[in-house]
Amino acid sequence: MRMYDIIRKKRDGGELSDEEISFFVSGYTRGEIPDYQASALCMAIFFRGMSERETVALTKFMATSGDTVDLSRFGDFTIDKHSTGGVGDKTSLVICPIVSSLGCKVAKMTGRGLGHTGGTVDKLESIPGYRTTLTEDEFMAQVERVGIALVGQSANLTPADKKLYALRDVTATVDSIPLITSSIMSKKLAAGSKNIVLDVKVGSGAFMKTADDAKLLAENMVKIGKSCGRNIAALLTDMDRPLGNAVGNSLEVIEATEVLRGKKRGDLYDVCVALATEMTALVKKIPAEQARSLVVGSIESGAAFEKMKEWISAQGGDASYLEDTSKFPKAAHVIPIISERDGYISHMNAEQIGIAAAILGAGRASKEDTIDFAAGIILCKKTGDKVMRGDVMAYLHTNVEASIGAATERFTSAISYSDAPVPDETLIHGIIR
Ligand code: URA
Repeated sequence: MRMYDIIRKKRDGGELSDEEISFFVSGYTRGEIPDYQASALCMAIFFRGMSERETVALTKFMATSGDTVDLSRFGDFTIDKHSTGGVGDKTSLVICPIVSSLGCKVAKMTGRGLGHTGGTVDKLESIPGYRTTLTEDEFMAQVERVGIALVGQSANLTPADKKLYALRDVTATVDSIPLITSSIMSKKLAAGSKNIVLDVKVGSGAFMKTADDAKLLAENMVKIGKSCGRNIAALLTDMDRPLGNAVGNSLEVIEATEVLRGKKRGDLYDVCVALATEMTALVKKIPAEQARSLVVGSIESGAAFEKMKEWISAQGGDASYLEDTSKFPKAAHVIPIISERDGYISHMNAEQIGIAAAILGAGRASKEDTIDFAAGIILCKKTGDKVMRGDVMAYLHTNVEASIGAATERFTSAISYSDAPVPDETLIHGIIR
């Protein structure tokens, strides 16, 4: 078999056989197929697409290109969740303990932030002592005993995706539905959970800027998950503004505890309840309405917050920070951004706000950068809110005084105003089951 023939076949609109796809994935992972041929194939896939059979094959071969996690000892109770990435998206910190308190087993590998989006691993590391690396035995024992463990992605999970994603990033081939589907779903299959809920973000802070594109991606991923024997659903949720009010690592952990303690409502609470409802319904095979009342009950009874503390302590973290969030170190500079006009906020560019938070120290521009856990932004006003001249729009938190000018400029340019009231934005754009 020759890589040249595989590229030509796809370039001319042909359907690749399972053997050809396997040849490509294993050869590329082992370094036997050069980047220039892999990128030519990605570009051919970008233009010609893939059939469902081809996408399933690509996903399965990528999933088994490295280590896989065997969670079969937990039966059908394992649940994973994946967000396509956003700004202020701390939903995993909220929903994983909720569903764990309801008997679901959460054995989750989770990522770091890059660019304008945050990552759950970084948020968890802002809790002193929290270990994002466990041995396999420790990981399994914690899932068995506590019902929840969240760690960073193991080094040899889906090496084919690691190489291909880096290549796609620099060859303008990221935004291809079969390539995104196989990238995300290969990681989810390798991570081993029987049940999967996807949070496909839509809007200015998301990868998919329109609801139609997000729906297509979600439908594809659900189809592939089912073909691979998983119970799966996808929610399309809004990322046209940051989720919640906090953007930045320890600031987001604090906000997550507020939701779990029943002290905070609004968009973050609503998205978390919707996701946790879908996860619970999938695992327990119960109607959504029944699942929703279990989820809300777990927050209201305090069971979910107790589970969060149990989980964080089990993983070495100091749970007293969750009880008393004033213990988290504060940034040296907390700068208010003041509105210079009256009106209504008509739009907040979530991507630009994510970049402003990164400039303050909350994110990385490259993988090697270190994160300042205390840095970020607290939003006091969000899309739809009425503002008066002189109102505080947000507080910028940073330890780097020199970053304040650039972050202020980014933040203020991300906000659009209107003179007339703005209709409520849709939060949940749809559910694909
Ligand atoms: N996230 C992934 O993990 N892979 C993609 O291809 C796109 C988003």
